[in-house]
Amino acid sequence: MLRKALMAAAASGRVRDAVMSAPGARGIVDRYVAGESSEDAVAAARELRSAGLLVTLDYLGEDTTDAQRAAATAAQYVHLLGKLAAEGLTEDGAVEVSVKPTAVGLLLGTEGQPGPSALGERVATEHLERIVAAARDAGTTVTIDAEDHRSTEAALRIANSLRSRLPSVGTVLQATLRRTEADVRELATPGTRVRLCKGAYAEPVAEAFESRHEVDKSFARCLRILMTGPGYPMIATHDPRLIDITRALGLARPADSFEYQMLHGVRPDEQRRLAAAGAKVRVYVPYGGDWYPYLIRRLAERPANLALFLRSLWSKS
Ligand code: FDA
Repeated sequence: MLRKALMAAAASGRVRDAVMSAPGARGIVDRYVAGESSEDAVAAARELRSAGLLVTLDYLGEDTTDAQRAAATAAQYVHLLGKLAAEGLTEDGAVEVSVKPTAVGLLLGTEGQPGPSALGERVATEHLERIVAAARDAGTTVTIDAEDHRSTEAALRIANSLRSRLPSVGTVLQATLRRTEADVRELATPGTRVRLCKGAYAEPVAEAFESRHEVDKSFARCLRILMTGPGYPMIATHDPRLIDITRALGLARPADSFEYQMLHGVRPDEQRRLAAAGAKVRVYVPYGGDWYPYLIRRLAERPANLALFLRSLWSKS
């Protein structure tokens, strides 16, 4: 409830302007976001690699209805992949990128209607094809992030079509959605990279489980299907119980046939501990100036963060 209310309040332009210009915001943004420029992203990737961690980089931005902006985002990814390759960071997919379909045009031409349009899907696919080609040239790959349920169908179609060009392209599935267990079964095929996460969006009850307990049970069911299947599971959670279940299921398969994934700034000690124990661990690192919606999702999933954030705004403004 608190999460839905916070996310609804955060959608107001006035709240957004107030938060983005508050002097106290920077501290908490810096916890979750690696910086604004591609140089900052490359530096963060370099540091994580030297600590034995894998990386996926996300250029912040989403829900654009501006064609030029979508094209500029795709160009930023191509530029970033070139830089990462020049530094030798992309070898064997050690550093890859995560892309949100709505950042590269999925919502173009929707004119305020909910859900993507055929035009948006075509534009997003074309931009993603360019990004995938750059990733392939760099020796790495792309994971297609999951957004709210209205874009799920289109995102899955796009990821499927991109896999025909580069089989390692990854898909993200959200345990919170009722449909996900069926999607997991469909995608648990040889070699397919699937990131399983809880889901960060406020969803209607017809589409999603409401209670944490139901979401966790759904996650555990999907986890079991992926970890006992022939694909390449990417288990994206900081939840100690789900990490324990992953570890137990992982004993029956080679350690390099799945990976843990966590967010930049969340449980960094656990990231290093798992990697030191021989697991593959990938850190999701966002960068760029458009951090507001990402920050709100991070605050909404932890009320303690919200209290801290409000205190920091209060004490510095
Ligand atoms: P949960 O929220 O129960 O947290 C478990 C514990 O982790 C907490 O008790 C706390 O210790 C710590 N923690 C979690 N979140 C924290 C935070 N923000 N700040 C500080 N501590 C925190 N979602 C989505 O909808 N689409 C996507 O594409 C992705 N992609 C993605 C990639 C990766 C690598 C990760 C790790 C996560 C995502 N997510 C996502 C986000 C995901 O859906 C979910 O919202 C968050 O991971 C939080 O859920 P947990 O599974 O960590 O559990």
